[in-house]
Amino acid sequence: MLEKILRSIQRVPAFPMTIQKVTELLRDEDYSVQEVTQVIRYDQAITANILRTCNSAYFGVRSRIGTLNDAVMYLGKDNIIRAVQTSGVSRFYKKAAEGYVPRASDLWTHSVSVGLMSQILYKKIYQQEQPVLYTAALLHDVGKVILGEYVHKSFDEIMDLVGREGCSFLEAEEKLFGINHAIIGEKIAEQWNFPEEISSAIGSHHRPDLLADHAAVFPWLVYLADQISSMMGVGGGQDGLAYRAVSEVAERFDLRDKDIEVCMVQLFEDMEKARELMAIV
Ligand SMILES: [Fe+2]
Ligand SMILES: [Fe+2]
Repeated sequence: MLEKILRSIQRVPAFPMTIQKVTELLRDEDYSVQEVTQVIRYDQAITANILRTCNSAYFGVRSRIGTLNDAVMYLGKDNIIRAVQTSGVSRFYKKAAEGYVPRASDLWTHSVSVGLMSQILYKKIYQQEQPVLYTAALLHDVGKVILGEYVHKSFDEIMDLVGREGCSFLEAEEKLFGINHAIIGEKIAEQWNFPEEISSAIGSHHRPDLLADHAAVFPWLVYLADQISSMMGVGGGQDGLAYRAVSEVAERFDLRDKDIEVCMVQLFEDMEKARELMAIV
């Protein structure tokens, strides 16, 4: 079975170049709107999303924005990065991860909420956004898209291992399939030639404590964002929540319970906006 799973990983389509290029261009404070536009215009889905985003009620433009150039200028760096990454990544979640969640859109909603939460936390700690972390958080459960069908077929066995032997969901995956969804996600990220900080954050999103580099920030923030989103029940689903107390992890970043509560309120607001902007169900 492991062989078959590894083969399905190889069949995952290439990651859209548009996202990598735009993220790269926008890293430069003096980015050129024209250059960014040149890259985005080749991707229809992303172009449509950018135009829809800036014409949405949320941005409240007075007159309709019809060109990509104007849209890029109007939205500004952070909004562009987020819109490009979110609409670019959504294509990988179209296939239902049926073993984990009733609908594919649930996994997508969960992924967006973890992405947004990662930015809320990062901003609270470092006073700015972190697009690379956003990518990692958005893709943390991408392995479920592959493993979903296997989990679906073996769901009773998994529940048996969880119920009788006290395994976590992740351990049950390992026992039955010889691999878990976090490692599958890491392998997909490696196949896409993502920087190591993204692939390792995906691979260790359930167990950042096992990483050799204990000071690594991304894995812990993805973990924390995942934990808080799941706690809030945003697009949740089966995932094996062998979770440490949120406050214990939050302390690593000097965040108090009160800060986490503020972040949760912020997530509700951001999810509302995301629903409107990204057409999430
Ligand atoms: Fe997960
Ligand atoms: Fe998750």
